[in-house]
Amino acid sequence: MSAVRPVPTVPPQDLFGKGRADRATRVVNFIAESRLRWTTFVNRHEPQAPVNDWRIPLVVVERRVEAHDTDVISLLMTAPDGRRLPEWRPGAHLDLELPSGRVRQYSLCGDPADRHAYRVAVRRIPEGNGGSLEVHDELKVGTALTVRGPRNAFPFVLPGYGSSAKRVHFVAGGIGITPILPMIRMADRLGVDWSMVYAGRSRDTIPFLSEVESFGSRVTVRTDDEHGIPTAADLLAGVGSDTSVYCCGPVVMTELIADRVREMPGVELYSERFSPAPVVNGTAFQVELARTGEVIDVPADKSVLEEVLKVRPDSSYSCRQGFCRTCVVRVRSGDVDHRDTVLTDAERAAGDMLICVSRCGGERLVLDL
Ligand code: FES
Repeated sequence: MSAVRPVPTVPPQDLFGKGRADRATRVVNFIAESRLRWTTFVNRHEPQAPVNDWRIPLVVVERRVEAHDTDVISLLMTAPDGRRLPEWRPGAHLDLELPSGRVRQYSLCGDPADRHAYRVAVRRIPEGNGGSLEVHDELKVGTALTVRGPRNAFPFVLPGYGSSAKRVHFVAGGIGITPILPMIRMADRLGVDWSMVYAGRSRDTIPFLSEVESFGSRVTVRTDDEHGIPTAADLLAGVGSDTSVYCCGPVVMTELIADRVREMPGVELYSERFSPAPVVNGTAFQVELARTGEVIDVPADKSVLEEVLKVRPDSSYSCRQGFCRTCVVRVRSGDVDHRDTVLTDAERAAGDMLICVSRCGGERLVLDL
C-alpha cells in the first residue's frame, strides 16, 4: 500500500526551498506585481446601471430649452445611483417608456464619451399623437422613467472605415439635428472633411443653433423665412462623388434628397425620417381581430396599424417604420407579406408580424387582437 503524500498548502519561498527568494526571483516578482497592479488599474470597471433586456431605470436630472421659441427641450437623464450607462454611438436612439405607457423613440444627442448620462431633445408637436406633449408636460427634473436601448438604426460610418467616401455632408431639418449632432462632433474631432446644411422654418425654431454655428464655415444655416424653401441643390451644395450624405428631417426633405442622390453616381445616402414611408405596391385586404370578430378594411395606401388604431387607439407602436418591434402581433391565419427589417425567420414562422409596415399576401389576415 502506497502512502498518500499531503499536498503542501503553502508554496516554498523559491524553487529551492530557501527562506528568502534569490535576487533574480525578487526582480521577476517585482516586475510581475507591478504589471498586475497596472493591469488592474487600467481594467478597473465602475459598476454599470442594471440592464434588464436593455430596460434601464433613469431619472431626469436636467431640463433645458434648446430653441428660442421654447418648443424644443432637452432632457439629461442618469441612473438613480449615478452608475455608468451602456455605451452608444452617434445615430443611436432610446425608447422612452412614458408614464402613460406610451413608448416613443428619441435620438441621443449628447456626448457618447459621457458614460453617466443620456441626453435627448424633443420638439413639442401640439397636433401630434401625444408623446411629445407628455414629454414636455410630465417629465420634470426628478421624474423617474424607464428607457430601452440604446439601439442604432442610423449608424455613422466614417470615411475609410466601411465607406468608400472621402468626405461627409450632413443635412438636418429642424429637430432632425438630434442624431446628426453627435456625428458632426465626432467627424470634427477625428479630422474628417465634412460640411453641413441646417434647415428650418426660422432661426427661432431650430434647436442647438449656437453649438452648430460654432463649427464656423463648415455649416450653412438656411431658414425658410430668410432664404425660401430649399431645393435639393441648396441642401446638397458642394456634394460630389466620393461623398456620403447623412440626412435627417421631415419626409419631404429626405425624399427630395433621395431623389436627387439617385442621379449622383458615387454618392452614398444614409437617412432617418420622422414619419413612416408611404406604402409602396400595396393592395387592399381585410384584417379580422380574432378576439372580437371585428373585420377591418385596409386600403392599398394605408398600413394595418393605421386602421387598427381607429378601433383600438391604445394599440402599442413607436417607430412606424418596421424596426422597433413595438407593434408586433401574432397572426392566427393568412399569408403575411413581411416588410420589416428585424424579425427573424423563426419569429416569422411562429406567426409574428409588425403591423406598421407588413401587409397581407392574400385577402385576409386573422390577428390575435
Ligand atoms: S411601430 Fe416600430 S416596428 Fe412597428
